[in-house]
Amino acid sequence: MRKQIAAANWKMNLTFQQGEKLLDDILGADIKLKEYQQTLFAVPFPYLLMARSEVEELRNYYVAAQNCYHRKNGAFTGEVSPEMLHSLAVPYCVVGHSERREYFNETNAMLADKVNLCLENFITPIFCCGESLTIRESGTQNQFVETQLKESLFHLSAEKIKDIVIAYEPIWAIGTGKTASTDQAQEMHAHLRSILGKQYGKDVADNISILYGGSVKANNAKELFSCADVDGGLVGGASLIADDFIQIIRALK
Ligand code: PGA
Repeated sequence: MRKQIAAANWKMNLTFQQGEKLLDDILGADIKLKEYQQTLFAVPFPYLLMARSEVEELRNYYVAAQNCYHRKNGAFTGEVSPEMLHSLAVPYCVVGHSERREYFNETNAMLADKVNLCLENFITPIFCCGESLTIRESGTQNQFVETQLKESLFHLSAEKIKDIVIAYEPIWAIGTGKTASTDQAQEMHAHLRSILGKQYGKDVADNISILYGGSVKANNAKELFSCADVDGGLVGGASLIADDFIQIIRALK
């Protein structure tokens, strides 16, 4: 079974104290994850150590960074490198979230560098891809995500790509309350897997987890996660409410 993942993306929300309480509430539900299931918390940088100590003793619960810089080190005031994250034993990092692409002008080439640095530092990138509404309406979403994958990931060897998690997040569904239908999600996830299959072979593609993101809620998670090629979700808004995220974790296959 591929890894099935419920990943919380807190974005720039919650104070430290609110974050601590949220984690206590979620972890207090004492959900025992199956061996192939994982729950991740992508928290703001200053909360990583706190969150890590909350999940440390728990099987298959991990922290993630929401971003990293695309250079190794140097005079980049305010940035955080993958090496720094590794020194805090952070095992995952979200790379190329659409908000970063949009507000911080992150390009596919820059994301390729981030992916490389993460892998060099034993961090699993959660690589985000996904199209805007305009692209969806023009019917070119398949080619669009294919280019995102090609330009940021396909320089990797088959051995390396195995260490990547992909998150398909249609921009029109993020924070809008508009979720992709299960058909739309399944169709795109199957497309992503087939592109990966063409490049790396079916065995490799079948082992890469592809998460869905974009208005995953307590009441639609089960249906979305039940799609054959959807391996869990990257969850923004609903991950900030303990009861909702608990239900989302429970909805994992
Ligand atoms: P949302 O965000 O669940 O609030 O739509 C998802 C994301 O941006 O990762």
